[in-house]
Amino acid sequence: MISTSLRGIHEANRASWNAAVIAHNSHKGDQIRFFRGGGSTLFAEERDLLGGLDGLRLLHLQCNCGQDSLSLAQLGAAVTGVDIADQAIDFARNLAVRTGIPAEFHRADVYDWLTEHQRPTEGFDVVFSSYGAIRYLSSLGLWARLVRGVLAPGGKLVLVEFHPFLEMFDDAGNLCNPYSEPGQPRFCPHGVADYVGRAGPELAAGDFHEGIRGFANPYPHHTFHWGLGEITDAVLAAGMRIEVLREYPYANGRRHLSSARTIEGRRVLPPPGLPTLPMMFGMRAIR
Ligand SMILES: C[S@@+](CC[C@H](N)C(=O)[O-])C[C@H]1O[C@@H](n2cnc3c(N)ncnc32)[C@H](O)[C@@H]1O
Repeated sequence: MISTSLRGIHEANRASWNAAVIAHNSHKGDQIRFFRGGGSTLFAEERDLLGGLDGLRLLHLQCNCGQDSLSLAQLGAAVTGVDIADQAIDFARNLAVRTGIPAEFHRADVYDWLTEHQRPTEGFDVVFSSYGAIRYLSSLGLWARLVRGVLAPGGKLVLVEFHPFLEMFDDAGNLCNPYSEPGQPRFCPHGVADYVGRAGPELAAGDFHEGIRGFANPYPHHTFHWGLGEITDAVLAAGMRIEVLREYPYANGRRHLSSARTIEGRRVLPPPGLPTLPMMFGMRAIR
């Protein structure tokens, strides 16, 4: 169970995300037209790890505003999305209705929702989580056990995440954070940033709008920093078999270092002159 103090941290993160998604969506242009025109926000890396989805029951954890969830539904999955942020889930539900893409969305703390949906015999074929989700997990071991408990036997967990190594650097490339701080919240007084507006047109999946300028989030947030070894250990200790573990020398759609270079496919590479760095990882694990 989640302690009262961690629950307080999750609720603070909820407030910070509620403010941030309004700024993020202000830059995303006409998303209804984007999806009605067959657009997808998924990258090749998650498509490859997920494989065919037709007819599968898929749980998308920390689904944010549902853009990836609807992209997954367009591949034939029956999608359930869960996120703590009210503004994100309201947006996702509205987007599903207005695009006509079927998907179910629930506003809940991921720990509460998973606890309430443990299934001893039948469950989801796929659990998916990606790009900036793990850093909000206050208890990785509990999360992995709860994920296993909502998967059908033979079902798979697919994770695609920014590499914990990247989190050691600030925007200017200074080495400033420890590699991992298991279970220790890191307090960020400035709250969830408008990284969508900051990234600008070169990283937008659809058409980019100027939207809200100079966004300052009044709600601080807290993040958790787990090393790759701790993440793989948690999945193994929960009783899942890791089938694929990959590291990638680029980050999809995220300009973490301000002098990074963006190449085709919205891939961000380290600044010129640096050797390759681990910038993302992907995992497929089987119950
Ligand atoms: C960086 S976003 C993930 C984006 C996601 N990859 C997508 O499909 O767009 C992180 C998300 O985690 C959510 N979140 C943070 N803490 C959570 C919690 N305890 N339970 C559920 N969702 C949470 C936030 O509201 C936010 O939408």
